[in-house]
Amino acid sequence: MKLLALLLPFLLLSACSDSTQDIKVQKTVLGQSLFFDTILSKNNTQSCAQCHNPAHGFIDDRDNGVAGMASLGDDGKSIGDRNAPTAAYAMLSPEFHFDKKSKEWIGGQFYDGREADLAGQAGGPPTNPVEMGMPSKQALVDRFKNHPAYSQQFKDIFGDDIFNNADKAYGAMAQSIAEFEKTETFAPFDSKYDRYLKGEYELTDLEDLGRSLFFSNNNTNCSTCHQLKSRDDAMGETFTNYEYHNIGVPTNIALRQANGVDVATIDHGFLSNPQINSNEHDGKIKVPTLRNIAVTGPYMHNGVFAKLSTVVEFYDKYINKERVNNPETNQPWADAEVPNTVNNDELKKGKKLSDRKVQALVVFLNTLTDKRYEHLISKDN
Ligand code: HEC
Ligand code: HEC
Repeated sequence: MKLLALLLPFLLLSACSDSTQDIKVQKTVLGQSLFFDTILSKNNTQSCAQCHNPAHGFIDDRDNGVAGMASLGDDGKSIGDRNAPTAAYAMLSPEFHFDKKSKEWIGGQFYDGREADLAGQAGGPPTNPVEMGMPSKQALVDRFKNHPAYSQQFKDIFGDDIFNNADKAYGAMAQSIAEFEKTETFAPFDSKYDRYLKGEYELTDLEDLGRSLFFSNNNTNCSTCHQLKSRDDAMGETFTNYEYHNIGVPTNIALRQANGVDVATIDHGFLSNPQINSNEHDGKIKVPTLRNIAVTGPYMHNGVFAKLSTVVEFYDKYINKERVNNPETNQPWADAEVPNTVNNDELKKGKKLSDRKVQALVVFLNTLTDKRYEHLISKDN
């Protein structure tokens, strides 16, 4: 009896955690199906996976008539104004919050952090008119309700009455997709750089030079924004501190001409987050992860740069007066879309880079590619 009394709470506890675990697995399985399913879009043409292709760094690797700068909506004609970021490693972005110590806003999902976490994010695209275009949450929930497999799965996991409340059922979908996005597929940490940290890969001289430059505050400012962990705890680095900064990215005129958005339109970035109202945040963008960066071009929130070397030269132009022209346009670097808040303090720190050092940084960034995408790295990036 005594033994049973001692054991009972333990048994209950383990039974409980088992079933919690089981529910989590079921949500992951459901989330995986949903991630790949075009049922989420009005005309049944679009899934999350098309704009976040697992075979290609979880970005939209289609051309979409705009050199991959933005995505095509479910209506087959709307082109967005922002480049689809990778959904890989997104699970590691902290929930959106204000950090009292650093006095910085941190984390969240989307370029402007408007959703606090992955589940919040996953609820966005299905009803976004230029993405999946569903007229309402109810309309999508009705599809699940009338779908033999999904309706059963939703009821098994979330209860028989789940379809009585459209908001709850929609939330259940988003939660399940988020659970799938938290699996190891999205964050394998098996790039050359990770293998180097574990002593399984030796960096080439050029890769090693790039690594030293990247982490050296005397030479470059990269690690000010693109480093999360301390040097002696480098495993699992995501290459972003999840802060918001304006680095002076110019308007993508070619994209605006293609998508019909007025070229004079300003993307206010972080200021368009409903929780943010101070103009000091105008045009800031969440610092992106650099994991898989070699295969996730074109670059920046608007896809304005095609090559990684251009991105590095773009940073160098803040310090190096000889970098007059954007090598992709052969024209002088265009002005920032939001000039007033550019973080010149940080961007003007560091030493100018020779072409060899630019190349070293690019080669180092290539080492951040997950093993399964290494074959996608272009020699000319
Ligand atoms: C039509 C293309 C398209 C579809 C479909 C789409 N996305 Fe996205 N996704 C984007 C774009 C563009 C952004 C950036 C938008 C922004 O920040 O305003 C984004 C942002 C994200 C982010 C945030 C990443 C970060 O670092 O902040 C995640 C995660 C994500 N999408 C997952 C999903 C999931 C899950 C689905 C399916 C429910 C989905 N996406 C459907 C294009 C798409
Ligand atoms: C002041 C903070 C800051 C510093 C310093 C900084 N970055 Fe960034 N970086 C950002 C932000 C913010 C973005 C996103 C800008 C956008 O999308 O418009 C970005 C974007 C990028 C991108 C493109 C990412 C993508 O997915 O499109 C690359 C590559 C990059 N940075 C590399 C570097 C390198 C290399 C250095 C050092 C030479 C550096 N950054 C220094 C904040 C910074």
